[in-house]
Amino acid sequence: MVDTTKARHATLHITDLRSQIVGIETRVPVLDGSLRQYINFDNAASTPALRPVLDSVTKFLEWYSSVHRGAGFKSQVATHAYEEAHKRVASFVGADPERNTVIFGKNTTEAINKLSRRIPLNNDSVVISTLLEHHSNDLPWRQQTHVEHVLVHDNGELDLDDLQAKLNKYGDRVALVAVSGASNVTGCLTPIHEIADQAHKVSAPILVDAAQLAAHRAIDVKPEGDPQHLDFVALSGHKMYAPFGTGALIGPRVLFEQGDPDYVGGGTVSIVTPDQVHWAGLPDREEAGSPNVVGAVALARAIETLQQIDLETIAEHERELTRYALDRMTEVEGFVLYGLPSLDRDRLGVICFTLGDLPHALVSAILSCEYGIGTRNGCFCAHPYVKRLLHLTPDEVRMVIADILRGDRSSIPGMVRVSFGIYNTVEEIDTLITALRDIVRGKYKGEYSLNSVTGEYWPKGFDPDFKDYFTL
Ligand SMILES: Cc1ncc(COP(=O)(O)O)c(C=O)c1O
Repeated sequence: MVDTTKARHATLHITDLRSQIVGIETRVPVLDGSLRQYINFDNAASTPALRPVLDSVTKFLEWYSSVHRGAGFKSQVATHAYEEAHKRVASFVGADPERNTVIFGKNTTEAINKLSRRIPLNNDSVVISTLLEHHSNDLPWRQQTHVEHVLVHDNGELDLDDLQAKLNKYGDRVALVAVSGASNVTGCLTPIHEIADQAHKVSAPILVDAAQLAAHRAIDVKPEGDPQHLDFVALSGHKMYAPFGTGALIGPRVLFEQGDPDYVGGGTVSIVTPDQVHWAGLPDREEAGSPNVVGAVALARAIETLQQIDLETIAEHERELTRYALDRMTEVEGFVLYGLPSLDRDRLGVICFTLGDLPHALVSAILSCEYGIGTRNGCFCAHPYVKRLLHLTPDEVRMVIADILRGDRSSIPGMVRVSFGIYNTVEEIDTLITALRDIVRGKYKGEYSLNSVTGEYWPKGFDPDFKDYFTL
């Protein structure tokens, strides 16, 4: 149940936040046999759960029951909570519930796939996406229609002149401009309202993939009459401290009221006969099957917590971490940054880099196995963007493709990524800097070997039994 007890409305201070993160004190084994407190710098992939989210979920489970079709009291309570969760998401992005619907699904990927099957397209249609997209905001469009990718500058930012040129070229053939609010590789923020303005001038709607944005900056879709308004927004709970499997697509009711839903079945209809089907109202007609009510409660509670902390406070904390990290990381010998080098232009705390000639997978493995630091490496489901940032030549790309297709990932290009969340600290960054300095000087202990099938490195003699840490 979305709990509304008074105590929870007290403002949460960012300094109290570490204690509000589930698993913040978890210690993990490292190569020398000791345990180290885990440092999670992989928030761009998934954030840990907030304690208030876990508490609400635990409390809700006492009331958990079927939604919409149950007559029992628990079903009524669960239905109320589920419907309230939709309203919380609408209000989080400033959407007018009269005009917009909130459709729950698994995640941003599912939300964008749904939109790609529901937005009207014809043989002439063009969707303008960009080169900085995560595959989830690129491949669904490629499956449905012709896609044009807006170019990016060397610093990773979008080339807005190229966007304008593409809008001029395709004019009213543009069915949608689909753009990330923030890059999961360089952390650069795209000027979504400016882009909306450009798109609306050719009557194209805009989708903002807010998977990276939603937990870090306030989103305001603005009223429909405003030329800068956002038509569609997609987001994921697991990147917003609510890892219980719910994401959302927010968009105009009028679009989803037309035509047939993309998935059909239980819950999507108001009446069915052997030869007739009448669809239910929104959002039910777009949420086929039994929904993830627990995930919806978690997402709503996470939103409330982020609002209690205040998104501007979160943004400022993460800016400080990013400024500090960039200043210190650029002092490390061999450090090469991809993306904006400073905070002169606002950006998220997502930092991608390489270190001298060291393979990205080796650096991430050493950070994990010797320092207990969780990062991510590779191409981050944004292959075209990463290849562009690394300035790979067409021949190099061809060679990589050939290697991968014959099952050898040892030469896969990529970077190391650290990404911050609300609870990370300067002290954790200091530990990272020490580790990077050691690594670049060869002062690491392990003898690492490469698994050419996975492209991953692992040190000799490090053989923790994962079952000792968690087992089903
Ligand atoms: C910018 C961006 N879009 C979309 C996605 C896909 O999100 P999900 O895996 O939650 O569907 C991600 C995930 O990393 C992302 O960073």
